[in-house]
Amino acid sequence: MKRILIIGSTGQIGSELSWKLRSIYGESNVICGYFAPPFPEGFFEAGQTVKIDATDINQVADAVKKYQIDTIYNLAAILSATAEKNPQLGWDVGIGSLMNCLDVAREYHCAVFTPSSIGAFGSNTPHKNTPQDTIQRPNTVYGITKVAGELISDYYYERWGVDTRSVRYPGLISNLTLPGGGTTDYAVEIFYKAVKNEKFVCPLRAGTFMDMMYMPDALDAAIQIMEADPAKLKHRNSFNITAMSFDPERLYAEIKRHIPGFVMEYDIDPLKQAIADSWPDNMDDSCARIEWGWNPKYNLEAMTKDMIAILKKKMAVGNECYF
Ligand SMILES: NC(=O)c1ccc[n+]([C@@H]2O[C@H](COP(=O)([O-])OP(=O)(O)OC[C@H]3O[C@@H](n4cnc5c(N)ncnc54)[C@H](O)[C@@H]3O)[C@@H](O)[C@H]2O)c1
Repeated sequence: MKRILIIGSTGQIGSELSWKLRSIYGESNVICGYFAPPFPEGFFEAGQTVKIDATDINQVADAVKKYQIDTIYNLAAILSATAEKNPQLGWDVGIGSLMNCLDVAREYHCAVFTPSSIGAFGSNTPHKNTPQDTIQRPNTVYGITKVAGELISDYYYERWGVDTRSVRYPGLISNLTLPGGGTTDYAVEIFYKAVKNEKFVCPLRAGTFMDMMYMPDALDAAIQIMEADPAKLKHRNSFNITAMSFDPERLYAEIKRHIPGFVMEYDIDPLKQAIADSWPDNMDDSCARIEWGWNPKYNLEAMTKDMIAILKKKMAVGNECYF
């Protein structure tokens, strides 16, 4: 039975991954590390929690020892657009937390999952059907932490046998916790505006294609890769995975099929546009499919239908709608 520590468990991914891991491995076997508010509703009542600043190795080591952890899900990060405004913080959290997790994992024999991102690619990476193994020269601090993270994770595996595994997440679309300042956030925000019948102002140009994924598939990926047969893994850090690729116009058109009166206008954010332009249009995820059976369930049509239904239900019961 796994004993799991989630670091950064209150963010967009962690707030949903914690429920899913508890449902699979048992409530008492999943410890949720938190750092700062906001906290998801019911967070402290749902199971065991521990305050951890992952940039402090002693706090990571104390939690691993105290709860006899064998698997760390390290989700602490400062996302792309926010990190560009504070590069030092982006580096300190992204790399500092990872190095601490790796060193503690080496000492206490833990497996480590740390997400990478489409941000690990740069403008001279092939943008169409981006290969698994290709040029990685990102020009954002976020992307640089992701490439460095992939390399150092492979190093800890090859040199010391630390069981490190990772996926390159595309933009993630979800309806529980808001995204934390990434370049693909528009693809979440647009749904909140649409269900409230408000105009959405899109910060990215029409024609800006990026890979995306609905949260249920992202959670499955994190669990499947950590359960994968190690003998079948030719890669570790990190696997391309995707579920769909669209630009703002395609997403707008799909939402309008459900909410015909919805209006979208453009007001381009130069920082976000520059980052988005440097990322792949669509990735080749065949290595993940072959090596550990990656097979997402939601395409654009299925994700849009589900997002709108869930957000409408939330609004109907008077829950807060954020945008
Ligand atoms: N959300 C996406 O679209 C997306 C896409 C690609 C990759 N990723 C990656 O997935 C991981 C999780 O992303 P997310 O979207 O949940 O991010 P998020 O910004 O929503 O959450 C990050 C979490 O890290 C915590 N944190 C910040 N500093 C910390 C510290 N010093 N110690 C401990 N915790 C700290 C925050 O409190 C928060 O809970 C990150 O590595 C991110 O780069 C996310």
